[in-house]
Amino acid sequence: MKLSPLETAAPLREDAWLAAPTLAEELAPHVYRTPLLRPSACAELLREIDARAALLRARGVALTPPNSMHEHGYVLEALGFGALLEDVRRRVAPLAERLLPQFAQGELDAHHSYLVDYSSRTDEELGFHVDDSEVTVNVCLGDEFHGAELVMLGLRCGLHLQSGVRAEEELEIVHEPGSAIVHAGLHRHRVDPIRSGRRRNLIVWLRNSRWRAQRGPLECQSWCGARR
Ligand SMILES: [Fe+2]
Ligand SMILES: [Zn+2]
Repeated sequence: MKLSPLETAAPLREDAWLAAPTLAEELAPHVYRTPLLRPSACAELLREIDARAALLRARGVALTPPNSMHEHGYVLEALGFGALLEDVRRRVAPLAERLLPQFAQGELDAHHSYLVDYSSRTDEELGFHVDDSEVTVNVCLGDEFHGAELVMLGLRCGLHLQSGVRAEEELEIVHEPGSAIVHAGLHRHRVDPIRSGRRRNLIVWLRNSRWRAQRGPLECQSWCGARR
């Protein structure tokens, strides 16, 4: 049986966005927080994601988790959110390029976006890792939760990813629905165990396709924390 693909979801309405995301708070060197979406719009997006996932499951389609580190969550493109996510990329890329130019290296013209799902019944935590992005925009969509803090563990070049974490590099971030954390893909991080509730975030791995096509061998950089 041939399944008809899901209808494409329309981009988020204009009023979902908080006034152009130009305000960013620097939480620590190279880590920013910015208010992005109205919490009501986040809740609406989660309902739409759930409805589409349920529809696909009812059709017998197996939804694959976003990458090997997650057992739950979805790549949202597969749920018909391609146009919505391209609109999200178009809106957040300029901010990411301005906040972290040494990582963006120009235009963040591509993305890989997915939903993560932390609760006692889904993924409970996530170990130390880096992202396959130039810059990551991590948007909390909800719901209510305690725990599942994002913990930043120091920025390293590709050669020094496994070097030790200094106490002053550890930064615990409590997510707030509607707000986004912006950090370099190479900024090491983990997610601490969730204690109650459910936290679902939209993760946008912003990429610079031109830079990826021409990047040379790994070299230690001035911003690498292993130099200090
Ligand atoms: Fe990550
Ligand atoms: Zn280095």
